[in-house]
Amino acid sequence: MKVGIIGSGTMGSGIAQVTATSGCQVKLYDTNQQALDKAKVALENILSRLVAKERIDESEKTRIQNNISYVDTLKDLSDSDITIEAIVENLEIKKKVFSELETFVSDDCIIASNTSSLSIASIAASLKKPERCIGIHFFNPAPLMKLVEVIPAIQTSKEVLEMSTKIITDWKKTVAVAKDTPGFIVNRVARPFYGEALRIYEEGIADFVTIDNSLKTIGGFRMGPFELMDFIGNDVNYTVTETVFTAFYFDPRYKPAFTQKRFAEAGYLGRKSGKGYYNYDEKGAIVVPSSKVTQSAVEESKLAQKIFDRVLVMLINEAADALFMNVASAEDIDNAMTKGVNYPKGLLAWANEKGIDWCVSKMDELYNEYHEDRYRCSPLLRRMSREDLRFFD
Ligand code: NAI
Repeated sequence: MKVGIIGSGTMGSGIAQVTATSGCQVKLYDTNQQALDKAKVALENILSRLVAKERIDESEKTRIQNNISYVDTLKDLSDSDITIEAIVENLEIKKKVFSELETFVSDDCIIASNTSSLSIASIAASLKKPERCIGIHFFNPAPLMKLVEVIPAIQTSKEVLEMSTKIITDWKKTVAVAKDTPGFIVNRVARPFYGEALRIYEEGIADFVTIDNSLKTIGGFRMGPFELMDFIGNDVNYTVTETVFTAFYFDPRYKPAFTQKRFAEAGYLGRKSGKGYYNYDEKGAIVVPSSKVTQSAVEESKLAQKIFDRVLVMLINEAADALFMNVASAEDIDNAMTKGVNYPKGLLAWANEKGIDWCVSKMDELYNEYHEDRYRCSPLLRRMSREDLRFFD
């Protein structure tokens, strides 16, 4: 299989590694020669580390490297069976590249975008054959994250969806099919992880460390929300939230937080700038803040449970509502969160464990306290509670 990749930055180079590893002939294209050189060196380093760890041998490393050629004209991608675009997140630039690309490739070449936030329908509209266009959304780092969201646009043909799903499964990735709606699955369902944590902080209920610890120790999340926002970058994470909020016609469930906006404006971007919600040393490790013990251990554990329950139920509510609105199947929603962002459990499975009645009563508690639309319980959870149903039954 011949794969053309457009853009050799973080995502494009990761996708090149995935596809070359699985035996495809890959052409990696970028307008910037430095980006191409950087991608080549980065791959050499990654593969050398894998050899040192005895995960692959030298001949495997050579095989993978030989499967990738680095090209500097779009026309070089003309013999591709599938192309995946991973350039700057700008609709007009993407459209221009897509319409030019279509003049070179064969009629049955699949033309995909790795966009995180643009609608696939709007990108597909730039093509003469929009039915060949599809969203193929990898997660960072692409070689490590198992999940790929596949997003058919309203124009996409059934065949292109089926072929794309098969191709990605052959690349040993887990496919979750998502409707062409803002944030697809992961970037929609994960919003409360950040948003509710920020809200809890803004209300003065707890500090960053306490909130992070609650999610990690009780929930088993690998990183707390503030650690994770610092890791992603407050500028990047804020922009995703604002984009999703705007795309959902300002639904208050996705409302961004001033705290994060101010952190981004101040340049407190997180790990990459040495300061965010936490301070970082030269190696990028958190400088552990000294803990301020102001309450008894019993009070502390009650507070942690309250924080965890509130964030978890908001996540479950979002996952249930995504299912209610047919964004994806229950299996794909749970797979997306465990394989795309390493959640310890699928949210719908978690809802079953906690009990659907528990979810409804926790959402109603929040709504009764705040009377904000942000805390409205998904009609699906309410119906399931009434009819005594569980997810996956
Ligand atoms: P990046 O900034 O690391 O790389 C983009 C590359 O595209 C650069 O090397 C640039 O020189 C090249 N480029 C720009 N315009 C071009 C053009 N007209 N033709 C050819 N090459 C061009 O960006 P990154 O992070 O890899 O993101 C790329 C895409 O993937 C975006 O659509 C982004 O939304 C999406 N994405 C990013 C994720 C992330 O965590 N970084 C995760 C999933 C999707």
